[in-house]
Order: sequence, then structure tokens, then C-alpha cells
Amino acid sequence: MKVKYLGHAAFEVHMDGKKILVDPWIRGNPKSPVKLEEVSADIVIVTHDHGDHGFDDAVEIAKRGATFVSIFEIANRASEKGVKDVVGMNIGGPADIKGLKIALTQAFHSGTANPTGVVVMGKEGSFYHAGDTGLFGDMKLIGEIYCPKVAMLPIGSHFTMGPVEASYAVQFINPEIAIPMHYDTFPVLTGTQEKFEEEVRKRGVKTKVMVIKPGEEREI
Ligand code: NI
Ligand code: MN
Repeated sequence: MKVKYLGHAAFEVHMDGKKILVDPWIRGNPKSPVKLEEVSADIVIVTHDHGDHGFDDAVEIAKRGATFVSIFEIANRASEKGVKDVVGMNIGGPADIKGLKIALTQAFHSGTANPTGVVVMGKEGSFYHAGDTGLFGDMKLIGEIYCPKVAMLPIGSHFTMGPVEASYAVQFINPEIAIPMHYDTFPVLTGTQEKFEEEVRKRGVKTKVMVIKPGEEREI
């Protein structure tokens, strides 16, 4: 499994021979290391409909041959924009999509459609991308049921968890690796990787914090 950070909440994950993009906000993302025309995928997932999570870019990418996955109402909007390969689902158990199991989870956030997180599970690994969310205790169940190897967690504060809340999320989910996201993009996002690392240490968990710079990728 290979994880590349595209800045903010955008990730490119390679798993089981598939390329998965989550929240591919490329145009207008000050941290994006890529241009939209360079990006393609097998599956593109949008956690919610805020502009910094890349719905419009995901539509363009899906038109180049990716399956568009999101909660039902956002998936319908992608269909209306002309995307042919759309899977609209809801928060609950996993769906089989191109050989991977994909489950939407709740997220404590806002939007014109229900916001979500997502768990993607393959033979080579699994990850939980929390989307934009505050802390919630049922993250424990996400850890227990899906045992994601990697958790991508927002730490920027203001709109999502900050470093303290995200460190409790790490404790609840208990992944092997936690990757901070949704920070250092705008001045209002004040959470830092250093503070997150410090707070995770305080929780006394085994989870390794992996900071990936935009444009960098890691073999996991
Ligand atoms: Ni949001
Ligand atoms: Mn956001």
C-alpha cells in the first residue's frame, strides 16, 4: 500500500492495483503538488460537499474513467454533472467497489448533504479517512470493526478536530499509523504536526504518527 499526500485533505492511495483518490481538491488548493490534468484514478471518493474537499475536481477526474463514490445526494449531483460511473451509498456497512470494500462512516460536521468519513479495505491494507469531523466516541467502533491500518485525521482545529481531539481519536481508533491532515493550508487552521505528535505521545498509544509533506509518498 502506498500513500501520497496531495495537501489539505487530499490523498492518493495505491492498494491492490487500484488508485484511490479521497477529497481531491486540486484547483485552488495552495498546497496541491499536482495539476488537475495530471490526475487520474480508479476510484474517487468525496467525503462531503465543502469546496476544500474537491467535488468539482472529482467530477472531472471521474469523467476520465474513475468510479465516483460519495453519499447518495452528492453522488446524484455528480450524475447530474455528467459522470457515468457513480456509486451513491450511505453511512453503514461496506460496499464492494472494484474489488475493494468501502464503507462510509459518520462525521460530525456540516454540509448540504450529510458529511462522512470513509474506510477503504483491500488485501494490501486499509485506511480510514475521517473527512472533516469533530471528535466522537464511536470512532472506537470504527477501530474495532474495521481495524484500519492507517488513519488520516484532521488536526487543524476551527472547522475540525485540533491536535488534542485528534490524539483522542488516535486512542479510539488505534491504527498502526496516523497521518495528520487539514492543517497548514490557511492561517485559521492553527493545529500543528508538532502539537499533534506531542498529544499522541501523551495518550501512551503504540500508533506511529507519520507526517507526509504535500507531494511526498510513503510505502506502508
Ligand atoms: Ni468541511
Ligand atoms: Mn474542510
